[in-house]
Amino acid sequence: MARIEIEDLYFSYRPEEEILKGVRLTLDQRPTAIIGQNGAGKTTFVKLLKGLLRPTGGRILLDGQDIAGLSAAKLASRIGMVFQNPNDQIFKNTVMAEVSFGPRQIGMPEDKMRICCQKALEAARLTGLEEKNPYDMGLSARKMVAIASILAMDTDTVIFDEPTIAQDHVGKERIRQIIRGLAGEGKSVIAILHDMDFVADVFERVIVFMEGRILMDGSVREVFADRDMLERAYLEQPNVTRLCHELGYRGVYLKVEELLHET
Ligand SMILES: Nc1ncnc2c1ncn2[C@@H]1O[C@H](COP(=O)(O)OP(=O)(O)OP(=O)(O)O)[C@@H](O)[C@H]1O
Ligand SMILES: [Mg+2]
Repeated sequence: MARIEIEDLYFSYRPEEEILKGVRLTLDQRPTAIIGQNGAGKTTFVKLLKGLLRPTGGRILLDGQDIAGLSAAKLASRIGMVFQNPNDQIFKNTVMAEVSFGPRQIGMPEDKMRICCQKALEAARLTGLEEKNPYDMGLSARKMVAIASILAMDTDTVIFDEPTIAQDHVGKERIRQIIRGLAGEGKSVIAILHDMDFVADVFERVIVFMEGRILMDGSVREVFADRDMLERAYLEQPNVTRLCHELGYRGVYLKVEELLHET
């Protein structure tokens, strides 16, 4: 497992506009969701973690080492990131070429690579589609190709930027299983999400971003119980939580099962 510490992180694309304004946190084993309004700095933050952008202030430590001093290949073998838009990630003409590109790039031995690619294709339910051209596939299937190509690299940290966008119920369930599987293998999962029901269902820790700062960092229950804080961040509770509140229930219910269990 990777230990990632973020020390006083600042970032701006242009000198006159600060995007991240002193982000401090330590990531842990808990599957972690990052939520926050559009433009809060969530994608910018994970791009910094992945080394795609350089901080204008502060440091990111991976197992105690500043990532600024790590080679791109070294960092790529530790931290994988699935982009929000698969079209920004996919560039090969077959699913197999796409999925095996990353493992090859980080120098994974051939036999391990075969196993990792097969496992990633299975997890994304792409087995049998290896020779298909990703550009001939629909958006949700293309997203699965993008996910598989990151899973195949077997990194101990996996970041997802908006994984559930363009996914129907079946696709979301698949992504839920992928995230649970990664967590079960002891990998760190960090995901940016707008779907609060999915967050309540799948994640344990929630970090709320607002205007380039962390507004709250806590367990999924702590965060979704705090209606005032969520309102300040222009966020909503999960549907079940909101409904139960409106019906006058006392507790904080995160999922339908919790409610059924009690009544
Ligand atoms: N390449 C860029 N150049 C200049 N400004 C940028 C660039 N990318 C993002 N920004 C600005 O930085 C701010 C934070 O953007 P970011 O994409 O990190 O937000 P976000 O929280 O991921 O939002 P969303 O939920 O809409 O994806 C926004 O004001 C955005 O306009
Ligand atoms: Mg974003």
